Amino acid sequence: MKQRFQVGPIAETLPPFLEKKKYSQPFILTDENTGRFCLPFLLEEVPALNEAHVITVYAGEKNKTLAAAEYVWKQLTEKNADRKAVLLNLGGGLVGDLGGFAASTYKRGIEFIHLPTSLLAQVDASIGGKQGIDFLHYKNQIGVFRLPAAVFTDQRFLQTLPEEQLLSGFAEVIKHALLAGGKLWKKTSAVSDLKEVDWENTIRQSMEVKLSVVEADPEEKNLRKILNFGHTLGHAMESFLLGKGEDPLHGHCVAAGMMGELFLSRIVCGLPEDEMQSAARFIAGMFPALNWGENDFESILQWMKQDKKNENGKIRFVLLEKIGQSVMDREADEGQIDEALRFILSAYAHPKKKSS
Ligand SMILES: NC(=O)c1ccc[n+]([C@@H]2O[C@H](COP(=O)([O-])OP(=O)(O)OC[C@H]3O[C@@H](n4cnc5c(N)ncnc54)[C@H](O)[C@@H]3O)[C@@H](O)[C@H]2O)c1
Ligand SMILES: [Zn+2]
Repeated sequence: MKQRFQVGPIAETLPPFLEKKKYSQPFILTDENTGRFCLPFLLEEVPALNEAHVITVYAGEKNKTLAAAEYVWKQLTEKNADRKAVLLNLGGGLVGDLGGFAASTYKRGIEFIHLPTSLLAQVDASIGGKQGIDFLHYKNQIGVFRLPAAVFTDQRFLQTLPEEQLLSGFAEVIKHALLAGGKLWKKTSAVSDLKEVDWENTIRQSMEVKLSVVEADPEEKNLRKILNFGHTLGHAMESFLLGKGEDPLHGHCVAAGMMGELFLSRIVCGLPEDEMQSAARFIAGMFPALNWGENDFESILQWMKQDKKNENGKIRFVLLEKIGQSVMDREADEGQIDEALRFILSAYAHPKKKSS
């Protein structure tokens, strides 16, 4: 099934859809921040939503819980939401995943619409139909595959998004561009200042890369794995830093992960040296270095070994034969991963200078 999405001014895209659908009752889910920064804008743009009941949850990943889902179900029940009600998820990936899950399970499923407000949610989390919550400290442990009725993305929501969150989401934009190659990579790798990005087109093109992959493999049986590029190393660093009590941004870890996996791509499957160097130095020039060093290689490796993609002591990666040409299930051994971690440190030390 095709996922419906529109990018552009929400005053033009959302009202005709709502009118056509004739939902019995609209509900809006926000977190504290999107309730404060994005809801007034939404209500101004789409006045018909002033009658909606607003449900607000706490912000932050630690609130992507069963308790939060229960709270949403309770609100829907108390306000007599019937099966023709709709839940509009106004927020980043937390609100989208949680709201999508709560709606998919309430009365065996009511429709929901994603209104993504973070860059990460606009180009990534809102696409592909994965809805869920964290459970017993495992991320996305409980959830369903279910598509939103539609996704409406308005880049003006990004105006209030904290700069570091914008940069974090940009890592997924870079990932999609590396997977797609061609003009998209050329345009993305020419960015030197996020303030100058043409967000409307960037978001549309980036989400289309994810869309084309998930439409070919909706339930992650095979091809969809390529979206893990940068994430095997990235998740290990993220878990390592979380374990040290830090609160790293996902995209900053994925950025470092992509640098390491670009290096592995060169030594394992022949990514040309110049492509590897220019991509890695571009990423190093955009993102802050993470707080780990040579002494932490072993711990990061341990986190990676817990990854379910391992077989016989080797770790499997999605790698690039060329920019725009990915391959799955390529193995690297510990020595090669060690070299990749060393490469990440050296790339941060010698980033490509920003042109501005
Ligand atoms: N379903 C999927 O396929 C998929 C894919 C990738 C990530 N995810 C999930 O997405 C989540 C991460 O998403 P995220 O990075 O958007 O996190 P998030 O939803 O926690 O948002 C990050 C922060 O930005 C704030 N915020 C969002 N939009 C804002 C705006 N316009 N103005 C001001 N503040 C704003 C939020 O309140 C929050 O504090 C994770 O839970 C991850 O598992 C899901
Ligand atoms: Zn990611």
